[in-house]
Amino acid sequence: MRTLITNIAELTTNVAVGDDPCGTMNDAAVLIEGELIAWVGTTEGAPSADEVVDAAGRAVIPGFVDSHSHLVFAGDRAAEFEARMAGQKYAAGGIRSTVAATRAATDDELRARLRGFLDEMLAQGTTTVEIKSGYGLSVADEERLLRLAAEVTPEVTFLGAHVVPAEYADRPDEYVDLVVGPMLDACVPHAKWIDVFCETGAFTVPQSRRVLEAGIARGLAPRVHASQLGPGEGVHLAVELGAASIDHGTYLTEADIDALAGSDTVLTLLPGVEFSTRQPYPDARRLLDAGVTVALACDTNPGSSFTSSMPFCIAVAVRDMGMTPAEAVWAATAGGARALRRDDVGVIAPGARADLVLLDAPTRIHLAYRPGVPLVRAVWKDGASV
Ligand code: NIG
Ligand code: FE
Repeated sequence: MRTLITNIAELTTNVAVGDDPCGTMNDAAVLIEGELIAWVGTTEGAPSADEVVDAAGRAVIPGFVDSHSHLVFAGDRAAEFEARMAGQKYAAGGIRSTVAATRAATDDELRARLRGFLDEMLAQGTTTVEIKSGYGLSVADEERLLRLAAEVTPEVTFLGAHVVPAEYADRPDEYVDLVVGPMLDACVPHAKWIDVFCETGAFTVPQSRRVLEAGIARGLAPRVHASQLGPGEGVHLAVELGAASIDHGTYLTEADIDALAGSDTVLTLLPGVEFSTRQPYPDARRLLDAGVTVALACDTNPGSSFTSSMPFCIAVAVRDMGMTPAEAVWAATAGGARALRRDDVGVIAPGARADLVLLDAPTRIHLAYRPGVPLVRAVWKDGASV
């Protein structure tokens, strides 16, 4: 099956041309063949196809690549959010209440919830999703969360070191022993990535190093949650261990920025977290100007960021973090792909996955210019219109 999308007013390919990293094309067309993109060019020179979709002057962008989410959980924390909006501070400890709800849920309940979130994300243009464990925190529960995540995405992350569970509260190092021992054994078969929450109230730098090095030794690739609640050494640890990404980065020092700029580690910013924890927004402008590679992700979770909307995150990143619309869209597509070390998504080029979003707008700028408006008109994932 060959599907041609024609009359695209503005196509974001993310194949850099000159000083435009978005590789923007006008009056463009894209040919989808099976699950892949077969051809990209102008409407005038387009090849024939079985089916033609007339974009009629609208914009097309790559499907969003959301490189950070926690979608396998039960319950919610609406009351915690309400209290926060009334002045209470966000603390890592809230994670434990979601752990209790998640442990009590059946596989089918978790699966139904997970699939609901994925549908919600797809409708908002997200075609690739990374999913972490971290609300099980026992060998059996972490294993099942990862097994459920692996049913729906290859981008599965073992986050047994999310927080120390209540039953280990006074012996955190014994919990780390469990994570790097039997829990890792049970989880390795389902995961591609190892992650740790390196933060005051979660895991120290030495504990985080143990977790990451144990995962690396078992073939998992590292990514790190750090500098969310205050400055710390997590960024340096991530860069030293060659992590694909350090996520959050709300409180970065000059030394962190220098280390990131000189590394292959992507900085994944999570605007939904600052929004819903009332923390200051990181200065993405300064980071980009320093040469840091920035990704945007939703961090969908019931505590710190219960949005699944990449358009929302783009709008906030532009309005409050100093990114241009083009930079924000790049970060939410190609940036996410970099953070997952993928080159087959986040880009519209022959041979890439046919993951595309048709916007009900003539330019990608509208994603920030019209916040809260559902602008995703059509989505293709793996070549199929969804
Ligand atoms: O990425 N930072 C740690 N973990 C999640 C929050 C989880 C929660 O509050 O339930 C995050 O923000
Ligand atoms: Fe997270």
